[in-house]
Amino acid sequence: MFRDQASALRLGAEGAPSLSAVRDPDGAATRTVAVSGGKGGVGKSNISLNLAAYLGELGHEVILLDTDFGLPNLDVLLGCIPNQSIGDVMRGRCAPDEALSPVMPGVRLLAGGELWSEEYSHREQARALLSALSVQMAGADYMIMDTQAGRAPAVMGLLMASEMAVMVTTPEPPALMDCYRTIKGLCRGGFEGEVGVVVNRAADREAKRTFGQLEHMVRSFLFRRIRLLTWIPDDPAVGRAVQQQIPLIRGFPDSRASQGIRRLGEAVTGEPTRSRNPARAFLRRLAKHMPGVGAEEGG
Ligand SMILES: Nc1ncnc2c1ncn2[C@@H]1O[C@H](COP(=O)(O)OP(=O)(O)OP(=O)(O)O)[C@@H](O)[C@H]1O
Ligand SMILES: [Mg+2]
Repeated sequence: MFRDQASALRLGAEGAPSLSAVRDPDGAATRTVAVSGGKGGVGKSNISLNLAAYLGELGHEVILLDTDFGLPNLDVLLGCIPNQSIGDVMRGRCAPDEALSPVMPGVRLLAGGELWSEEYSHREQARALLSALSVQMAGADYMIMDTQAGRAPAVMGLLMASEMAVMVTTPEPPALMDCYRTIKGLCRGGFEGEVGVVVNRAADREAKRTFGQLEHMVRSFLFRRIRLLTWIPDDPAVGRAVQQQIPLIRGFPDSRASQGIRRLGEAVTGEPTRSRNPARAFLRRLAKHMPGVGAEEGG
């Protein structure tokens, strides 16, 4: 059955479903959280990984999707070698389920790797991505997406589709400005979900000051409300966990940075979903916002 599923989904397959026919993940109530921020190196991957680990510890079924398609590194942070990536599913090299690698209790990693290729049209590739995700999301409570730095159309598409956009910044002005510009991009695109902010590498007071600056800009110029989800102090335990290739909250559960991650987990789980079928709503929005695809849907 897996093989049939794989060949039906692969890029260029005859009779592959059109976007509007991508099947709903059966009854999946998957909440989708995209972790971004604009600037490189602010802590997005560590935060995505540890948020997923914490949600898994709470008993949720979590998919951790490495959407850094150019330079994926969640597998390196976890010290694991996933056999397959989302790109392999799209190319029919494996079935959707085979690409999900269990990496921690409750957490399955979906590795990034080569996704967009010149060989196929954007529309075709987005369709294959949607098909693969619609199968993989069944049974998952959360899908946490780690995005690459910048505001490439594919990154913005994933953010626009997510139920919650977690924007990571540090107190440094370039990081704050990149974060603001990304939020501006979301507002311009008509983002309807929640915009949450994580101030990383800052203690309590500095984080609140940083958030205050961002909130002021967003309120004054974009007329939008944002929420501080957590702050995470600069903590040597983060570097040690990276060195040892273990999630911080498992290796150093009592560290101050781990406390910050748990605050983030509480904020994410405490936010009620606005949709009756959040997985389907996510796929519909993704179909609309992925580059080169909206035209097909919009007809
Ligand atoms: N709170 C923290 N305390 C100390 N070090 C941190 C903290 N957060 C992140 N780091 C360090 O910052 C570096 C970059 O982190 P990470 O790879 O998670 O950032 P990123 O935003 O995903 O980067 P990229 O844009 O390249 O994908 C890592 O070496 C990590 O150890
Ligand atoms: Mg990263």
